[in-house]
Amino acid sequence: MTITIIGSGKVGASAALNCGLRELDRDILLLDIVQGLPQGEAMDINHQLSERGFDTIVRGSNNYEDVRDSDYVVLVAGVGRKPGMTRMDLLKINAGIVKDVVSKVALYAKNATVVVVTNPLDPMTYFTLKTLGAKKNKVMGMGGMLDLSRFKSFIRDATNISRSSIQAMVISEHGENMLPLTRFSSIGGIPLHEFISKDKAMEIFEKTRKVAAEVIALKGATVYAPGNAVANMLESAIRDKKLVIPVSTLLEGEYGFYDVCIGVPVIIGAGGVERIIELKLDSFEQEIFSKGAASVKEAIRALPL
Ligand code: 2OP
Repeated sequence: MTITIIGSGKVGASAALNCGLRELDRDILLLDIVQGLPQGEAMDINHQLSERGFDTIVRGSNNYEDVRDSDYVVLVAGVGRKPGMTRMDLLKINAGIVKDVVSKVALYAKNATVVVVTNPLDPMTYFTLKTLGAKKNKVMGMGGMLDLSRFKSFIRDATNISRSSIQAMVISEHGENMLPLTRFSSIGGIPLHEFISKDKAMEIFEKTRKVAAEVIALKGATVYAPGNAVANMLESAIRDKKLVIPVSTLLEGEYGFYDVCIGVPVIIGAGGVERIIELKLDSFEQEIFSKGAASVKEAIRALPL
């Protein structure tokens, strides 16, 4: 088993480190077209893993042939979101990059399970699925898992209760129509609304939708939370943990939509996306989810498919 991470910028490197810290594989390949960058990141990560006593070896490469026979490919390649940009602003430029990268994955690791990270996340997940011609369970987008980590962080700030007792869910577009589900969130099994007022819940809802832009304005990129979110998804697949995680996946009638990739709760196991969990949304939630699906569908129409 080999995990390959394509794109060794800050998020790719963070994903490699987080996978190494969990010893998800003995061999992690960090690939990038920039000479020296993946090699340098691999060295730095190996030095940390070495001191921690973890036996994962990270290797840097500029050669796509090294992707051969990877079981898991994380697709981070592309341009990141800059201050003031929406994720959708990256559609055209990243479609070209993703198309090129996916053609290499098709050549060397056609049967890999692919985790898409490149933005705009939902259209890029769809684009990867279609251009790779993979089974739908084998391609999943990392967006909701990241949004969820932010939502949970705000719930902890509002309640001052241990992060480990918080359960929550964020679905819909990883973008302007993100849907943190306060109604499906709980602390120690007790509904979130028992702990905070409706107004406070609404405030957290809005903060979760906006906070990535704030981080990007402050430090230029989001790095640690995305790397951890990738590792969560991979761990559930590699160890067949069957975690319930929100990921962008192809809908074929679920939630009333067809032929669109968007964030929904799924069970991830050895088979990749093993099951989509359908929630009964109320009218407020349904409206946002429908806007999200429409936004992703519009972006998909602009893709060179
Ligand atoms: C994030 O939410 C930019 O999509 C990226 O951190």
